[in-house]
Amino acid sequence: MKLDVLGLLGACSYALDCVEAELVHVTDKHAKRVAYMSVCVAEQMGIQGESLQDLTACALLHDNALTQYIQEELHSDTTDISKLEEPLQLGLHCSLGERNIQDLPFQTDIRNVILYHHENADGSGPFGKKWTEIPLFARIIHLCDLLDLTCCTGTLTSDTWKKVKDFLQAVNGSVVDEVCIEAFLQVFSEENFLLLGGDDLENCLWSKVPRIKQNLSFEQIKSLAKFLPGS
Ligand SMILES: [Fe+2]
Ligand SMILES: [Fe+2]
Repeated sequence: MKLDVLGLLGACSYALDCVEAELVHVTDKHAKRVAYMSVCVAEQMGIQGESLQDLTACALLHDNALTQYIQEELHSDTTDISKLEEPLQLGLHCSLGERNIQDLPFQTDIRNVILYHHENADGSGPFGKKWTEIPLFARIIHLCDLLDLTCCTGTLTSDTWKKVKDFLQAVNGSVVDEVCIEAFLQVFSEENFLLLGGDDLENCLWSKVPRIKQNLSFEQIKSLAKFLPGS
């Protein structure tokens, strides 16, 4: 059977965006902005085709285990993360997220992308991995996730772009590796960064990453069905 896997996962990420907006107070469309930025950076690095589609799926689903982590590990309700007594353990949400997506019908090797999406370039992240040990897609998603959380908190303006540049300077080499930052700065200017705040974001994403229908086996469809309601 042929299915639009990216379209389905994109729809699923709507729900994740709403949950994350409530829990960690990011503005909505967080995953879409992270996906769009990640795709632009990856394209700049020469990534294309099926790899770009898989990166998009990973970026859309990078926080797929956030509610599950809070409910299962912290035994809390998920109404507001700021009221949790325990600090959020990023590593655990990464492990759960990696496990959840492992049977999805990816077309390339995306092992450890979700697992290491909070690793810092200098090894100070949850699993202590240095940037040379982290898959490229995890490094790109880490950069774009942090940028969105730190800089895209309200309406995007020229000040937002200044914040982005200051942030990149502050984290260069320690939190995020230079290679990703350099690609980001090559592809983004103030003008196209501000497009992230527009209503057309999703169309911009799908124009870069066409949603081609994939031929799936029965087992792959079963895995997809298992993932969707559990997210
Ligand atoms: Fe995360
Ligand atoms: Fe995130």
